[in-house]
Amino acid sequence: MRVILLGPPGAGKGTQAAWIRDRFSIPQLSTGDMLRAAVANGTEVGRQAKAIMEAGKLVSDDVINAIVAERIDQPDCAGGFILDGFPRTTDQAEALDRMLAERDLRIDAVIEFQVDQAALVERISGRYACANCGAGYHDTFKKPKVPGVCDVCGSTEFVRRKDDNAETVAARLEAYDAQTAPLLPYYRQRGNLHTVDGMAPIGEVTAAIAAVLEPLATETASGPAGGSAEKAGSSGAGNA
Ligand code: AP5
Repeated sequence: MRVILLGPPGAGKGTQAAWIRDRFSIPQLSTGDMLRAAVANGTEVGRQAKAIMEAGKLVSDDVINAIVAERIDQPDCAGGFILDGFPRTTDQAEALDRMLAERDLRIDAVIEFQVDQAALVERISGRYACANCGAGYHDTFKKPKVPGVCDVCGSTEFVRRKDDNAETVAARLEAYDAQTAPLLPYYRQRGNLHTVDGMAPIGEVTAAIAAVLEPLATETASGPAGGSAEKAGSSGAGNA
């Protein structure tokens, strides 16, 4: 199963990617997480990306495309993957099509998170994550079961992202509208775009995504090609 999650910052892509990862045992490939790791490790990519990310702009297509091409060749991606935050420009979408075609793979579903952008600042400014395992939380919408203790690993250390402030969020939303939203017609035209209401409570969004992916997983498991032999974007039961 190969899935793209498409939506503005704070739409819930990372939250739902964690559920998809656990349910279908496929890795979550978050280009944002990869870039933050590169920044933390002080690599050349990290040095290039740091200021761009802090300004809420997009890192160059060439850098991102190379990172993703290398990542999807790792053994843990053999059974599929979730693209969380990629592609984000038309150039990236076209590069992804080429990467998939070269590997004789296809995307099974593109999930669009439809959201009210006015609500996203509250979502993003209340977000934090476990410093140890990365599990995501929110001051209001997703608190740990025991206050101050991570549900997953028990750590008591939490972190907030540097780009999660009102000014940078505004720039990130602008970048989404200008550079990423044009991908919606790109995938709609291919018939594999599915839209979910990203303003619903987290569990309801998960249920809507499950309703899209569960039947596809069955098809993938029982299909003649095992879900890997069609060209990129050539199929899918779109609902949008
Ligand atoms: P990235 O890390 O990808 O950030 P983003 O797209 O801005 O997305 P977010 O992680 O902010 O939001 P999300 O949709 O995952 O929301 P979440 O589930 O956490 O990118 C960061 C930067 O890296 C970019 O600005 C750019 O510079 C660079 N970059 C990355 N990829 C790139 C690319 N391909 N090309 C170029 N540059 C790239 O949810 C947010 C909060 O809301 C959480 O606290 C959660 O608990 C809560 N929440 C989630 N769902 C709900 C709900 N349904 N109801 C209530 N609360 C909810």
